[in-house]
Amino acid sequence: MAARRPLIAGNWKMYKTSAEAADFARRFVPLVSGVADRDIMIAPAFTALETVAGILKATNVALGAQNLFWESEGAFTAEISPKMLAAAGCRYVIIGHSERRQLFGETDDTVNRRVRAALPAGLIPVMCVGETEKERDAGQTLSVLDKQVRNGLKNLVANELGTLVIAYEPVWAIGTGKTATKEQAQAAHQFIRSLVSNLFPAELAVAMRILYGGSVKPENISELMAMDDIDGALVGGASLNPESFGKIVCY
Ligand code: 13P
Repeated sequence: MAARRPLIAGNWKMYKTSAEAADFARRFVPLVSGVADRDIMIAPAFTALETVAGILKATNVALGAQNLFWESEGAFTAEISPKMLAAAGCRYVIIGHSERRQLFGETDDTVNRRVRAALPAGLIPVMCVGETEKERDAGQTLSVLDKQVRNGLKNLVANELGTLVIAYEPVWAIGTGKTATKEQAQAAHQFIRSLVSNLFPAELAVAMRILYGGSVKPENISELMAMDDIDGALVGGASLNPESFGKIVCY
């Protein structure tokens, strides 16, 4: 097993009002309070961040956001800055989720801008990459990952890379119940790590956490986590219920 500290993260997408998020947090915190050997994060909607931050304070569960804008302030109606997220209590921010790429015009370039803006604000970016089913069927998985990782990390210097997390989320496995096999996930993670070691000092690639996302459940987390290059999970549907997400965290 690798020495990297696992990270189990919940991406709540557009679910839960502030009151529902608070109810989750109150029920979830005691279920995982004894967990000391891995990091835990939940990413509610923007409207629930401050409420949930209050409940997570002084616990072992960190708060994340699901997106940010790269400018620090200005006339950018409806956007949220890195500084605003940090002030709201966020430690992490998910960037470039495939739903952002597919539905909201996110590109490798805008992903890169967001990653570069998150780091100086002290936020840990969780940069998402992954191929569609069509790309996998066409044998393009590795070239898609190569392009997304290379462009997403463009113009970052080694000492900025620090805490950055990459999440491999094959688009065909998201919300479909169709998990990548542990071998498919491991192959993608290994490829990403070796690519990062070509772009940055190798020790940074060795230390970097790469999460798997796509239909992770209490039933499949253990076999995924047993793979050498899988350092955690980014969980959608199964993170919405405190008991099931608690089981995933305590795999
Ligand atoms: P599911 O776990 O619902 O497949 O979603 C995965 C995901 O998109 C996490 O970011």
